Amino acid sequence: MGFTHIFDHPLIHHKISFLRDKTTSTPQFRQIVNEIAMLMAYEISRDFPLVTTTVETPLATTECKRLAERSVVLVPILRAGLGMLEGFQFVLPSASVGHIGMARNEETLEPEPYYHKLPGHVTEAHVIVLDPMLATGGSACNAIDFLKSQGATDITFAAILGTDQGLQKVHEAHPDVRVYLAEKDPVLNEHGYIVPGLGDAGDRIFGTV
Ligand code: URA
Repeated sequence: MGFTHIFDHPLIHHKISFLRDKTTSTPQFRQIVNEIAMLMAYEISRDFPLVTTTVETPLATTECKRLAERSVVLVPILRAGLGMLEGFQFVLPSASVGHIGMARNEETLEPEPYYHKLPGHVTEAHVIVLDPMLATGGSACNAIDFLKSQGATDITFAAILGTDQGLQKVHEAHPDVRVYLAEKDPVLNEHGYIVPGLGDAGDRIFGTV
């Protein structure tokens, strides 16, 4: 089984309770998604490599640690993944951004890719795929397949809510991919929605409810 990290942090639980609440407005929802994304980026970067550098403070010369020059590519899956982008960029401002457009066919529940644009250095970068909902795992696997076909080798997948089904599908197909979930929910309903969930994340982020 691949690596899964499920957050158990008071701030994350608190913020997700407002995402779940159907009375939360679109601006609030968008703001909270980004706040959670920031906290997730902080944890995902825990093992980022550091280098030692010499810095002159106003008082002395000292050795400091800085992030090694390893590029990070953030890849939001359109469109709901865009909701997490700003939060990740706030914590990782030097990251490049690639996009993968994937739409779910509401009858088959299968993801259908329709757009992609990635930076050339995706092959050497740490690629972090953003999608708030890891439901069936279909679009996650499809996006990861595509990223690997473009040469990506170091991939992390970050979602706010996920299910065992989604985790299993990703880990079986891509045991090398690290998955971070802010919380895990018990079930998917017959329409492929996470229950209790938070509804359609894209609709709630973009106000298309
Ligand atoms: N996508 C969503 O936006 N919500 C779900 O519950 C499942 C997939």
